Amino acid sequence: MSNNIIVGTKETDMNIQKIFDNNKDWVATKLALDPNYFNDLSEGQNPEILYIGCSDSRVTAEELMGINPGDAFVHRNIANMVNNSDLSSMTVIDYAVTHLKVSHIVVCGHYYCGGVKAAMQSADLGILNPWLRNIRDVYRLHKDELNKIEDEDSKYKRLVELNVQEQCVNVIKTAQVQKAHRERNITVHGWVFDIKSGKLIDLQIDFDHILKEIMEIYRLS
Ligand code: CO
Repeated sequence: MSNNIIVGTKETDMNIQKIFDNNKDWVATKLALDPNYFNDLSEGQNPEILYIGCSDSRVTAEELMGINPGDAFVHRNIANMVNNSDLSSMTVIDYAVTHLKVSHIVVCGHYYCGGVKAAMQSADLGILNPWLRNIRDVYRLHKDELNKIEDEDSKYKRLVELNVQEQCVNVIKTAQVQKAHRERNITVHGWVFDIKSGKLIDLQIDFDHILKEIMEIYRLS
């Protein structure tokens, strides 16, 4: 019976076999358009974008941007965080910037983000506490602006945006991005995906301005 814990027995469970059927159809569709499609994919990747987004199941990476396999190097975690003690996001940034030489780094948050919502509430969430504390730090940094917003929904949305902005700053703080910026064109973008409308919003973060502002403190060489 312990297997039930692993595979699940709820009537609403996703039909896993359907996924393999879908995959078969997808392969056939791709090959019908281009017989060399998978062969070409296997030769290597040369993406121009590093996309850092939330793990939320409603916020896809490729689909919402209308791009294809091979176009974006993708990292997703709860609330699209970039934390310098997180080996996972740091190695992804290193690989994308130093080896794949991406030209664009996108941090994409989304309205109605459960991670951001949880950080706005006083609750002990176990292992999520240290992760969400980084969002509470964003709140503290911007508390004058946020506390002025009376409408809870608007405050929640603004924290999503400010979290994206601060994670972009964290990207810029990395040695790899600073080095790449000196040597070639590389831009950091802050975006928000609005689940309610499906729209992608560019927060128009002024990359060069932020870079100038923080370099006095975070310059690494
Ligand atoms: Co989220």
